[in-house]
Amino acid sequence: MIVTIDGPAGSGKSTAARALAKKIGYEFLDTGAMYRAVAYYCLCNSIPWEDHSAVAAALPKIQLDMPLGRILLNGVDVSQEIRSSQMAEGSSKVAVIHAVREFLVAQQQAIGRGRRIVTEGRDQGTVVFPEAELKVFLVASPESRARRRFEDLQKRGETVSFEDVLKKQYERDKRDSERAEGRLVAASDALTLDTTDMSIEEVIELLIREVEKRCPRG
Ligand code: DC
Repeated sequence: MIVTIDGPAGSGKSTAARALAKKIGYEFLDTGAMYRAVAYYCLCNSIPWEDHSAVAAALPKIQLDMPLGRILLNGVDVSQEIRSSQMAEGSSKVAVIHAVREFLVAQQQAIGRGRRIVTEGRDQGTVVFPEAELKVFLVASPESRARRRFEDLQKRGETVSFEDVLKKQYERDKRDSERAEGRLVAASDALTLDTTDMSIEEVIELLIREVEKRCPRG
């Protein structure tokens, strides 16, 4: 069984997907980390995110491995480095490139094949796993999403203002929603959940009930 959880940044999907996977004993796939790692590779190799042909040409040199919730880029653990606000912007920029999406979608499908997995991103229910048994689309108000992101960045020690986080989030949402492929959009058969006034525990409980409806345990 495959569970897809899509939604914009700060909707709570990473925390919910990770916790749900743990509770039901499924594997967890963070596809945003893959786009972030591609952006990080470009940064380290002086390839501008906006130079689509140079980014596409670099892809054969990128090897990604995702053991136990971490991400290795050419054998090096970059799980921490990819979490910065700079990589949030870079990942959203490389994500508009057709070759990047083709490269990562194929890897995501290979990872999910024959497995019990909770996967999260923007296009998991629409493009990558259109046959998934449970598709969830999480939304939340822009202010509450930016607040969560702001608190995360502060915990990481980044000096940012709330207004700047909100502005960057708006730009990223726009890029993610308007690109030609793998747009941020709910699948027609997705369960849409507004998490603005929900605690993370409430979201997880609700998702567990939805999984059990489709696949009773016991
Ligand atoms: O979920 P995240 O913030 O880690 O994602 C980073 C960026 O990667 C996001 O702005 C858009 C892109 N992305 C994507 O295009 N498709 C996905 N399935 C996951 C992420």
